[in-house]
This record gives sequence, structure tokens and C-alpha cells, in this order.
Amino acid sequence: MSTDTVTIIDDATGKKVQLPLLTPTSGPKTIDIGALYKELGYFTYDPGFMSTASCTSAITFLDGQKGILQYRGYPIDQLAEHSSYLEVCYLLINGDLPNKQELEEFVSGITNHTMLHEALKRFFSGFRRDAHPMAIMVGVVGALAAFYHEHMDIHNPEHRLITAHRLIAKMPTIAAWSYRYAMGKPFVYPVNSLSYTENFLHMMYSMPTEEYTPNPLLAKALDLILILHADHEQNASTATVRLAGSSDANPFAAVAAGIAALWGPAHGGANEAVIRMLMDINESGKPLQAFVDRAKDKNDSFRLMGFGHRVYKNYDPRATLIRKICHQLLNDMESTGEQKKLLETAMALEKVALEDEYFVQRNLYPNVDFYSGIIFLAMGIPMNMFTVIFAMARTVGWITQWNEMQSEGKLRIGRPRQLYVGLIDLEYVPINKRK
Ligand code: SDX
Repeated sequence: MSTDTVTIIDDATGKKVQLPLLTPTSGPKTIDIGALYKELGYFTYDPGFMSTASCTSAITFLDGQKGILQYRGYPIDQLAEHSSYLEVCYLLINGDLPNKQELEEFVSGITNHTMLHEALKRFFSGFRRDAHPMAIMVGVVGALAAFYHEHMDIHNPEHRLITAHRLIAKMPTIAAWSYRYAMGKPFVYPVNSLSYTENFLHMMYSMPTEEYTPNPLLAKALDLILILHADHEQNASTATVRLAGSSDANPFAAVAAGIAALWGPAHGGANEAVIRMLMDINESGKPLQAFVDRAKDKNDSFRLMGFGHRVYKNYDPRATLIRKICHQLLNDMESTGEQKKLLETAMALEKVALEDEYFVQRNLYPNVDFYSGIIFLAMGIPMNMFTVIFAMARTVGWITQWNEMQSEGKLRIGRPRQLYVGLIDLEYVPINKRK
């Protein structure tokens, strides 16, 4: 990175400070403000991190204006067309595409870590049957730290790698078992002869009473969706994993924190919220415009779920890819009337919103969550499992970003400051003198 500089002048004192201007491989130049407080005695204020880079990274690149997403330099549309989720996991973790032998060894390594410790089975039964699967996933992933003491030296690269493999391998089992527990169905163990997504479908839907063959169309569509959700730069849940990991907390705890952050409807919970919104629209019998008008009304907390993005001020490239899968899946499968009705409503809403000045002016385009929920519905996946699948896909991104942070060697705990606006220097008032 070249080091040009920018000069900041304090108008009050005339004092100047020269700060390094860092030039990335691609994207906006970045002012290194580390010396600002020492030099000028000022903090910077950027509560939503609208203009703030929290780290350097070589994993995923986004260009929000051009709608670009690349994993380790490879464009997402090429990976979506040619790769597989486990190959993308190898790429993200190792920094480049594997050769044939490397891929076979990696897939075998993941396949042979899909089981959970038998004691963990009892952990599920501590939850109510109607517990949201995300609540179960947060708990079970955090609890994994209790089972792998022999590989918990976060400063040991081999321990970090085995932990990455364990998390990637076990998330489908944890996700499927969260569903099976909620449905009162027996847990189904992974089968090593099945692919990653076939195994997930098998653990979700097979019953001990009859043969089950995963639908190859669904397995392929799910693999593609996992690729599209694998990583996404410093989004809220990834930033949470990095911040939790910056205290040297173990990776299972850091990823559990990321799962909790992803759960919010403004983030990964949006895919479930989109379907609930589309169902409300269909059940209301009101015109779409009424919902678009509500989304524009500042006095109404209603937002069009699945629209807008902090970074993409153009189409989310994942939405473009997933939109195609949506149409193909619903055409190829005998989808129910309700699923077709939901897709029709989604298409109509997309059209209305994209022609509305409010959305156009604010670059509010459909994001990846706008279509993923419809696809999950078409796959027969229950709504409260949508974000669980997002978490399953994003685990490789979280653990890769955590690993990048830990391997830098100069890790400092993340500790933001604040703009204090409260009261100060008050005298204590004895209770008998208070109003
Ligand atoms: C994900 O960061 C990532 O990379 C996340 C993600 C990933 O892969 O990790 O891509 C996954 O989380 C996708 C986003 C899923 N969330 C939703 O679909 C929920 C609906 N969208 C919004 O809540 C919102 O768009 C956010 C949270 C996604 C982005 O919020 P920002 O960047 O803080 O934008 P903002 O709230 O400041 O909105 C800017 C303007 C505001 O209006 P004005 O104050 O300018 O008048 O746009 C409006 C907002 O009111 N706006 C919306 C809107 N989203 C923004 N108005 C109506 N409906 C919406 N959906």
C-alpha cells in the first residue's frame, strides 16, 4: 500500500496533522486516523461505520457502486457457475483454488468431522420444543468450546485450521438437529457417502422408517445459495466475530456471537422477515402501493424487507444470481399455489419499488434476502430455519475472517470510544433529600 498523506487543520487552533492515506488493491483510499487523538486530542464519530474501515483484509472485495463481489479475487458469478460450496470454503480459507488432490483431501476432512459429540445431543433437550432454531444454534455452537480443549490454542495455526474444519463440518448437523428437535423427530446422523448439501437434506428430512434420496435439484440449488452467502466483507455479524475474537475469546464463542448478530431482521434475519412480509401483503388484500407508501412514511416503522443495503447502491450481485435460481426452481418443481403467489407478489413488489422515486433516489434495490426466502420455501424449509441456513453458509466467512485477524500477529483488542452526552460531576444526594 502506498502512503500518500492528508492534512487535517484544526480551525480552532490552526494546528495541522498529517495522516497517512492508504491505497488498497481496489476500493476507496483510506485515511489512517490512528494518530489523530494523540496529535489533535480529537476522536472521530461514525456510529454506523458508514465511512470507517475496521481492518485490512484480503478475503472478500465488494464494490457497492458497481455491484461487484469477489472471494479471494474470483468474481462471484464465476464461482456460482463453476464451483461448489466446499471448494469455495477451501478458496476462502487457503487463499486460492485447490488442485484435484487438495480438494479431495479437504472434502474428506470436512466429511469426517460432521458428527457431534454424543453428549451434545442432550444439550438440545434443554430447549423448549418451540425454541427458535437460531437460539439453539447460538447455544450449541458456543458449547462446542467445551469439547475441544486439545485444539484451543488460538495462536497455533494448526489448531485454528482444525477448528475451521470442525465448524464448517458440524454446522449442517447442528442446523438439521435444531429442526428435528423442534419437530419432535429423531436426530439423523450424517452419512459420509453424501455430498455436503445432500447430507444436510438427508439429516433434515429422512425418516428411519423409509428410504430417502435427497433431491439433486434441491441439493444443487442449496449448494449455490451457500456459495452466495459464504462471506461478505465486514458485515455486522463478521464485525462481531472479529470484535469478540479480538479479546482472544475462543473461536466457538466468537462464531456464536456472530450467529447472534446475524439473527437480527436488519441483517440475516431478513430472509425470514421477507416471507412474513409477503404473506402479510397477500393476506391483507390491500394494493402493493399501500405497503410501499408505508415503507416511505417516516412515522411508520415498516420497511420493505429484502430491500436496501449498506454497501450495494446498485443491484446486489447475489440477488441477480439468486433471482434466476428462484424462477428456475419454481418452474422445475411442482411448487404449491402459495409459493407461486408469494413469488408473483415479490416480482410485483420489486417492480413497484424500483419505479418509485423514493427507492430509486436512495438506491434501494432487492438484496440477497429478498429471493432466498422464496427458494427456501420452495425447498420445503420452514421459515424459522432460513437464517439458520444463512449462518451455516456464513460460518466459513466468519472463521476465515477470524483466522486472518489472529494470524496477523499484531492483534489489539477492539475498543471503540464514544461521544459522551450525559451528565457529569454531580454530587450524591441522600435519599431523604431526593424529590
Ligand atoms: C444482509 O452488510 C452486509 O453485507 C449484510 C449482508 C451480508 O451478506 O452479510 O448483505 C446480508 O444483511 C442484507 C440486508 C438485509 N436486510 C434487509 O433487507 C432489511 C431491510 N433493509 C434495511 O433495514 C436497510 O436497507 C439496511 C439495514 C439493509 C441498510 O441500512 P442502512 O445502510 O443503515 O441504510 P439506512 O437505514 O440509513 O437507509 C437509508 C435510507 C433511509 O431513508 P432516509 O433517512 O434517507 O430518508 O433508505 C431508507 C431509510 O429509511 N431505507 C428504507 C429501506 N432501507 C433503507 N426504506 C424502506 N424500506 C427499506 N428496506
